[in-house]
Amino acid sequence: MKGSATLIAAQVASEMKAQGHDIIDLSVGEPDFDTPEFVKELAREGIAKGLTKYTPSSGTKGFHDSVAGFFEKRFGADVQYNEIAASCGGKQGLFNAACTLLNAGDDVLIPKPYWVTFPELATFCQAKSVFIETKETDFVLTADQVRASITNKTKLLIINSPNNPTGRVIPPDEMRKIVETCAERGVYVLTDECYLFFAYPPAEVFTSATLPTELRAFVCVGGSFSKTFAMTGWRIGFTIANQIWTNAMVKLQSHSATHPTSFVQYACAKAFERYDETMAAVTSMTAEYERRKNWLIPALNEIDGFKCAVPEGAFYAFVDVRNVVGGEYNSSAEIADALLRKRHIVVTDGTGFGADGYIRISYATSMETLQKAVEQMKEMFGSKAAVTA
Ligand SMILES: Cc1ncc(COP(=O)(O)O)c(C=O)c1O
Repeated sequence: MKGSATLIAAQVASEMKAQGHDIIDLSVGEPDFDTPEFVKELAREGIAKGLTKYTPSSGTKGFHDSVAGFFEKRFGADVQYNEIAASCGGKQGLFNAACTLLNAGDDVLIPKPYWVTFPELATFCQAKSVFIETKETDFVLTADQVRASITNKTKLLIINSPNNPTGRVIPPDEMRKIVETCAERGVYVLTDECYLFFAYPPAEVFTSATLPTELRAFVCVGGSFSKTFAMTGWRIGFTIANQIWTNAMVKLQSHSATHPTSFVQYACAKAFERYDETMAAVTSMTAEYERRKNWLIPALNEIDGFKCAVPEGAFYAFVDVRNVVGGEYNSSAEIADALLRKRHIVVTDGTGFGADGYIRISYATSMETLQKAVEQMKEMFGSKAAVTA
């Protein structure tokens, strides 16, 4: 397995910071907001109540009921408590899902560009990653592309919408068709919904937890609180899958992490029960991401050779820098490296996402940092006159 390209970029940034450099870090895959106060207070309440001991490996019944209740209220999903398992972050949920489904030699469909962990999950399970190129459809996976890629060896499709790194969102109808296409051929779908709450209108969020039972039989939803409540360090997420798959995941987890922290489960469960406060928190974070995105994307497009589509969700700008490659720089990796060495700007090279020729810029950072970064990039690469609408 390879180390996570995104975590490696973040590590470089923090090392340079420790050496006293003034770093402009655009590599971060985590919200720059603090965890909402009411969630912190609930965690303190959990500790005060003595919730400091083991819970069931699947998480507490209170956690399951709360996630099910929230998904019903917010999305109209009909999910049973025993189809939910708590995990230590979304990542462990995805890992549990892949490990309990895949056998050596299975094929796993992964649309490109992909989140760095997906091919590594397949590798860990001795399965084979089979990539689906999505450049032709502007990085939005379609059911036709999936249909054309399925073979007798295909066991699983892994998708992520809203997407890291592209910021694209698969429309609800297409998502339904993708799952139908897979189910018809007995292929399972692992859908990573960790950015579920972060889509910018008119893009619509969609959770596969709302699909009819016969389709959900093939689906595992990966959920996370990391981005939802800006609580990446708390390590809590969940899966929603049929009971057989869920039981297998819980069995696996019972021999590894056991369960996520007891009072963190309590805090998240209680937070989801406070529906209005939860929605207010995610709405205000989304509004701030949107404000930054609305400034950042036109500004990036003014830089010579940079081309960036408007993200529909998550908090990443995925910049096509292929027009910069060829002169002084031979690859997007060299561009990312030059940004770091010459301007102390940390971005993530697209190669780790299976998209050489692109760089990922996170706007989960302050407007001031973004403005400083763009100014430096304009000095380095040159800039076109501002495009007026
Ligand atoms: C697409 C995607 N899935 C999953 C995760 C993992 O999140 P968690 O902190 O819940 O493990 C991330 C984190 O950056 C992500 O970008």
